[in-house]
Amino acid sequence: MEIGFKNHRQNTAVPELDRQRIPHHVAIIMDGNGRWAQKRHLPRIAGHKRGMEVVKEITKAASHLGIKVLTLYAFSTENWKRPDAEVNYLMDLPVKFFSTFVPELIENNVRVNVMGYTDQLPVSTQQAVNDAIAQTAHCTGMVLNFALNYGGRAEIVTGVQQIAREVQAGKVTPDAITEETLSAHLMTASLAPDTDPDVLIRTSGEERISNFLLWQLAYSELVFTDVYWPDYTSEELVQNIVAFQQRHRRFGGLDDGKDEK
Ligand code: FPP
Repeated sequence: MEIGFKNHRQNTAVPELDRQRIPHHVAIIMDGNGRWAQKRHLPRIAGHKRGMEVVKEITKAASHLGIKVLTLYAFSTENWKRPDAEVNYLMDLPVKFFSTFVPELIENNVRVNVMGYTDQLPVSTQQAVNDAIAQTAHCTGMVLNFALNYGGRAEIVTGVQQIAREVQAGKVTPDAITEETLSAHLMTASLAPDTDPDVLIRTSGEERISNFLLWQLAYSELVFTDVYWPDYTSEELVQNIVAFQQRHRRFGGLDDGKDEK
């Protein structure tokens, strides 16, 4: 059965999901937890708590849709600037998340991957993440890729430093460095051939990249939704993928000479 939805008011069909064209790699900036909580006169961490439950639902939905890689921006290198209590809560979320959710990840054949400067995370967070990676290592379905203490500019700098060391050691000449060389030195390298998101979704109405996957988003479709992350649903995910499917990806080229000049 097609997952679709009708606009009953106008009685016009809204495009349906094309199951043959599911994006391989979906990346999400999960924004709006604080505002969701504020609207309900709750502390900001209540938004993060609810947001974690939404991560579970969206992980299962994405896996059922046949997405190959789901990358979630859970903590940026800039998020350390938040009050200590909030940072501590965010650092504990992976511990809470994996302590209950790993069996369902395994049931859904989902493998956990993490990218970011994880050595700077509290030991308990590192432990939870490493355990989840080990426990799901045999899973062959979707990769659930958490960006934790991740920053796009820092990632590129680290990659360039690695390449510079290889040049210094005489392993590669500067002229032999290509786009593929840098891609292979970024934190998404292990996701090959799906290193680059087909679509980036950002919730909460903000329309920014916020230092997320700067290199990898070069040709991604960007989909922005006003929904705050704690209110995000699998139906909204389907709608956002339908929006992606309506786009006309040309990667800078033309389509069969039919393109407008
Ligand atoms: C942005 O909203 C959200 C974050 C910085 C944290 C995102 C984390 C989760 C959704 C839970 C992650 C779950 C796991 C398992 C790691 P914001 O706080 O910036 O919201 P605001 O812009 O409304 O203030």
